[in-house]
Amino acid sequence: MVVSNRLPVDHELAEDGTATWRASPGGLVTALEPLMRASGGVWVGWPGVADQEFEPFENDGISLVPVSLSQHDLEFYYEGFSNDTLWPLYHDVISPPSFHREWWDSYVEVNRRFADAVAAVAAPGATVWVHDYQLQLVPRMLREARPDLVIGFFNHIPFPPYGIYSQLPWRKQILDGLLGADLIGFQRVADAGNFSRAVRRLFGYPTRGTAIDVPDGGQRFRRVVARHFPISIDANAFEELARRPDIQARSRQIRDELGNPKTIILGVDRLDYTKGIGHRLKAYGELLAEGRLIAEDVTLVQVASPSRERVGAYMDLRDEIELAVGRMNGDYSTIGHPAVSYHHHGYPREEMVALYLAADVMLVTALRDGMNLVAKEYVAVRFDEDGVLVLSEFTGASDQLKQAVLINPHDIEDVKSAILLAVNMPKPERKRRMRALRRKVFDNDVAAWSASFLETLTGAAKVAPGVP
Ligand code: G6P
Repeated sequence: MVVSNRLPVDHELAEDGTATWRASPGGLVTALEPLMRASGGVWVGWPGVADQEFEPFENDGISLVPVSLSQHDLEFYYEGFSNDTLWPLYHDVISPPSFHREWWDSYVEVNRRFADAVAAVAAPGATVWVHDYQLQLVPRMLREARPDLVIGFFNHIPFPPYGIYSQLPWRKQILDGLLGADLIGFQRVADAGNFSRAVRRLFGYPTRGTAIDVPDGGQRFRRVVARHFPISIDANAFEELARRPDIQARSRQIRDELGNPKTIILGVDRLDYTKGIGHRLKAYGELLAEGRLIAEDVTLVQVASPSRERVGAYMDLRDEIELAVGRMNGDYSTIGHPAVSYHHHGYPREEMVALYLAADVMLVTALRDGMNLVAKEYVAVRFDEDGVLVLSEFTGASDQLKQAVLINPHDIEDVKSAILLAVNMPKPERKRRMRALRRKVFDNDVAAWSASFLETLTGAAKVAPGVP
């Protein structure tokens, strides 16, 4: 069983009142869908709307068990504690986190609801894989309700250093919640290290390598493993789409529609302050202002898909980005040659693949990102072994994708040099780098990621409790 805040589909009402199901946003769903389709497992999660109850149902070959959230849960558990406390705290406090006791109460209550939903339907001895920061209390709650289950947890976002984590008023409760799992997975080595350090500092439990011995009554200890498992994508599925003649035709059409610039630079993100969209625009704008790039030759296509639109920091970000885009277009676009082609939409995967194929340079400037699957998608699509990936060092992906042009997005001069290097990179070098990147992504796809996590989980759960 997989448990995550979101189901892979969101319930939506069309204008004529008919209900439809639409693909959910974000990297978590992108990564888990192929596993669920292959394993025939059950997925427990929220269907994306408030105050509506749904019966379990099948969608596209996956069994879904909806957990409903009220309007209050949405405001306090989802927008509040998950996305205005934990999200900024876990992403290096790029935006200041808010701490509210009523949000925490709601987080506990909703985590309990998810745990109850799983406990009610899980088969004896089932393996349950809980995902992400919204559900960190579920492993402990589940272990108490159903000690027969094998419980894994994977954190899709960074785990912050102790100096930041320790600000959280509920820091001990969250760690204890996670320690209910047999295996706790993180994206990067550094995240797993931060977690183990927090456990040592706050509880003093003995840790040895990836193992943590958690007291389990009297003299007994239960072994919990905390390790990194960098997540990935279904690389073959992306390449297959890229090879489709209709998608290749669409990619040529995109170039035409943009006025046939020599170079297309692409950014694809949820509209989130962690993604460094403002830093990217600043660097690009300065290159235009200095005449080192000219709008007749180059277009920046920025897809910024709507996200968490009722959270204040996201509303402010939207205003900031749209002001910057408007100014830049006013200053540098000419008729038929937009400096920035900005899109505040989500697009179907086919359209994204066509965009990746059209993009000469892919710009990923995240200030902090658990992994960044967009970087991997771009690489998987480029079977032509062309295109240049510019990638922030502050993404999990940069641990693996070393042949990208790596940047510090806070250093605007560094971003500018990287853009120029990418725009002017000779073809043989583009090919050499892209080949190496593709090898990395195809050798470490999402099937390898889930197999490795689940294998380690089975091993970890077999270790009997004992005295260390
Ligand atoms: C990131 C998180 C996911 C989340 C997604 C979309 O990928 O790791 O847990 O689902 O963003 O955000 P949303 O708040 O719309 O679910």
